Amino acid sequence: MLRVNAERLQDRLHQLSTVGATAGCGVTRLALTDEDRAGRDLLASWMHEARLTVRVDDLGNIIGRRAGTDESLPVLLGSHIDTVRNGGRYDGALGVLGALEVVETLNDAAITTSRPLEIVSWTNEEGVRFEPAMMSSGAVFGRFETAYVYGRADSDGLRFEDELRRIGYLGEPSNRPDAAAAYLELHIEQGPVLENAGKPVGIVDGIVGITWSEVTWTGQADHAGPSPMPLRRDALGAAARLVTAVEEIGTREGHPAVATVGRIVVEPNVINTIPGRVVMSVDFRSLDNEGLDRMMLQLEDKVRGIGYRTGVDGTVVRFWTSEPTVFAKPVIDAIAAAIDELELPTHRLWSGAGHDAKYVADRAPSGMIFVRSQNGLSHCETEYSAPEDIEAGANVLLHATLTVAGAR
Ligand code: HGY
Ligand code: MN
Ligand code: MN
Repeated sequence: MLRVNAERLQDRLHQLSTVGATAGCGVTRLALTDEDRAGRDLLASWMHEARLTVRVDDLGNIIGRRAGTDESLPVLLGSHIDTVRNGGRYDGALGVLGALEVVETLNDAAITTSRPLEIVSWTNEEGVRFEPAMMSSGAVFGRFETAYVYGRADSDGLRFEDELRRIGYLGEPSNRPDAAAAYLELHIEQGPVLENAGKPVGIVDGIVGITWSEVTWTGQADHAGPSPMPLRRDALGAAARLVTAVEEIGTREGHPAVATVGRIVVEPNVINTIPGRVVMSVDFRSLDNEGLDRMMLQLEDKVRGIGYRTGVDGTVVRFWTSEPTVFAKPVIDAIAAAIDELELPTHRLWSGAGHDAKYVADRAPSGMIFVRSQNGLSHCETEYSAPEDIEAGANVLLHATLTVAGAR
């Protein structure tokens, strides 16, 4: 039975992880940075070695195409190589390099699929430097206007379009991926479900709904000494109350709903000045839109209440919502069949993390394969998946691809 070359895959994962490597053995390769450019250059060189026809679209997505025996709709395989700050070496990279390994394995075995294959490395999946997440796959499939994406700026005010041009990856709109026969994404689970179930790989039923908001608190900067407590309008004091309230909203909504304040900026952020302004993020996730809306209503109510009690003015801007996504049964069935063929134990689960598959699913039957995450950890330097689990996941991707791309 055809199998991937696990050593080659591990070697490439290692090589890519050296691009943007952190002191703590993690990776920081934020979208459109010099580290991202270096990672892109490395990936493109590997795609050329694998005899793929490489193109770049106007969002910086890198597409490596392998011809099929008939020029039908392609099968897309992919993920992302940008990371969060101090992230792990597998999030995203596994899906792109796993797809490349599938192509290399087919090349080694001189197997040509009926359908063309296109490996896609999506720009800015993480949405860390340029919020929100999955903007490039979202733009390709009509969820974001290109002008909106181009105008998004990072915390230094640098624009997406300018940074994309600066790193040399501003390609052509005509190079965008388009309709496809199917989309398959291999990814680490990034949670504890597979580990608790004792399973190496998982079949993903769908992706939870996600909504991102930004709350701005405007108080009064003042000297930390002479200003009596009752007279203060401390923006950080108000924000601190909301951080606790957000945690309570998520806990009250109940698993698998979650609520996180991950980003907070304090101005002027000096020891002897009462903060006059604070900007903070709120990330809500739920299996259904009603859950997201319920949590948003509570958030807005809390901001009003805290504003009234503290005299600090709070405003909420809900700037991104990704509704829950159910993956396509034919693709799920192809993944399940591959797992059966490989005689692997498996588990069905939902993804608590967002993925580009969410937007590809708008235009092509999509599905995801998860690989077990040690201790369920991700978006941290200790993110880890065992080589045997990675090999299992890549073999599932290989055989699911053979099914959907017509090579049996
Ligand atoms: O936010 C997410 O879930 C993804 O990692 N971008
Ligand atoms: Mn990811
Ligand atoms: Mn991620």
